[in-house]
Amino acid sequence: MKDEQGSFSCGVESVKNNGFLKKDFFVDPDIRKAEGLPPRAFTDPAFLELELEKVFRRSWLPVSPDAYAEFLEVPGAQVPFSMLGNPLFLQCDSEKKPHVYPNVCTHASYPLVRKSGVVERIVCGQHGRVFTLEGAVRDPKFAVSKKFPRKCDNLADLPLEAWAQFFFVAQNDPAASFDEVFSLMRDSVARLSVGGMRRVIQTAEIREVEGNWKQHAWNYLDSMHIPLIHRSPDGLVDALYFSSYRTECYPHSVLQWAYAANPKIGFLPEDLPARFRDPDDPERRVLALWWFVFPNMAFSFYPWGLSVNLYMPVIGRPDKTEFHWHHYVADERFYRLREELWHMEKVDREDTEAIEATSKGLRSMFATRGLFSPGREAGAHWFHRLIYASLFEQQ
Ligand code: FES
Ligand SMILES: [Fe+2]
Repeated sequence: MKDEQGSFSCGVESVKNNGFLKKDFFVDPDIRKAEGLPPRAFTDPAFLELELEKVFRRSWLPVSPDAYAEFLEVPGAQVPFSMLGNPLFLQCDSEKKPHVYPNVCTHASYPLVRKSGVVERIVCGQHGRVFTLEGAVRDPKFAVSKKFPRKCDNLADLPLEAWAQFFFVAQNDPAASFDEVFSLMRDSVARLSVGGMRRVIQTAEIREVEGNWKQHAWNYLDSMHIPLIHRSPDGLVDALYFSSYRTECYPHSVLQWAYAANPKIGFLPEDLPARFRDPDDPERRVLALWWFVFPNMAFSFYPWGLSVNLYMPVIGRPDKTEFHWHHYVADERFYRLREELWHMEKVDREDTEAIEATSKGLRSMFATRGLFSPGREAGAHWFHRLIYASLFEQQ
C-alpha cells in the first residue's frame, strides 16, 4: 500500500547520495578501462547507509528460514522476524495467502506481533488499533479525525514472492521484478527439485565475520583466486578442470560453473539443461553451479543439494558482515562426502582468512583502486559496476 509518492509509509524520506560524488565512484562498463570501487566504499559507514537505502531496500531478499519453518498455512498464522534491522512479520490472511507486513503500528510505532501464533485480527498492544489479516486498519477512535484513514494507516503489504521452499521479500519498491532477477537461475536448476530438498541445520548458520559485505560477494565472484587460495594438494582447484571454468554475467545474476576433475562426481548430464554438455564428451559432469544473485546472495548447487550464503551488512559496521550459511540436501550419501569431494568447510576457512587480510589492507592508507584482468575478472567487474550503477545511476 504505497502513498502517492511511491513510498510504503508516510513521511519517510529517502537518503540523497549522502554527499558522495558520482565521479569519485565511477566504474567503467568497459572492463579494460574500469577501476574498482574506491577503498572508501568498503570502509565508510555513510556509504553503507547509502547502500542500505538504495540497494538493499530495493532488492529481493530471502525471509529467514527459521521464520518460514514456523509459519503455518492457516488463516491468521503470524511469525515475527527482522531483516537488516527492520521488524517485519509473516501473516497468513483469511484466504491462506501469505503477506509480509512491517511489525510497526501505523499509529505510534509499537510492535504488532511479539511472538508466533494464530490470530483472528491483528491488534496493537499499545492503544488497541486493529488491522484485518489483509492489513486494513480499523480504529473507531479515529472516526472523526479529518484525515483518517490515510492509505498509509493500513499495513504496507510488502512485495513477496515464493520459489521452491523460499520466500523473498522487498522492503520497498524492487528495482527489478522477481522473475527478472531469479528466472535464469530457476530455469537452470528446474530438474533438481529444489523444493524437495531437506534443510539441514548447521552448527553456526549465522556468524559475524571480518570484512565488508561486498568483499564477501566479490570473493564469491572471483575465480582468479582459486588456484592460489584454494590450492593443491586437496584444494578446490583439484576438484575442477580449471580450464573449463566459465563466468556468465547477466543483468541481475552471475553463473560460474566448471566440469569436475573426477568423472564420477558432479551432476548427471541429464539433470542440467543441454547447454552444459560438453559436445566433445557428453558424459562429462559439471562439478557445481555457483549462482550469485545481486546484491548479496550466493546459491551454490551441488549434486548433494544446495548451499545458500547471504552476505548481510552489519548496520553501522562497514568492516563486518553477518554471514548466513544454510544447507538443503537432495542426496544424503553425497552430502556426507561434501568435505572430501567439494572441500566446503576448507574453502570457507580459506576465503574467510583471505577476506580478513584484505579488509586490513583496504583500511590502510595504501589501498588503491585496482584494475580488473579483462579475461579473468568478469564477475568482479560486473559486481563493482552494478553497485556503482545502483547507487548513482538508477532512480
Ligand atoms: S501504537 Fe498501535 S495503537 Fe497506538
Ligand atoms: Fe574462494
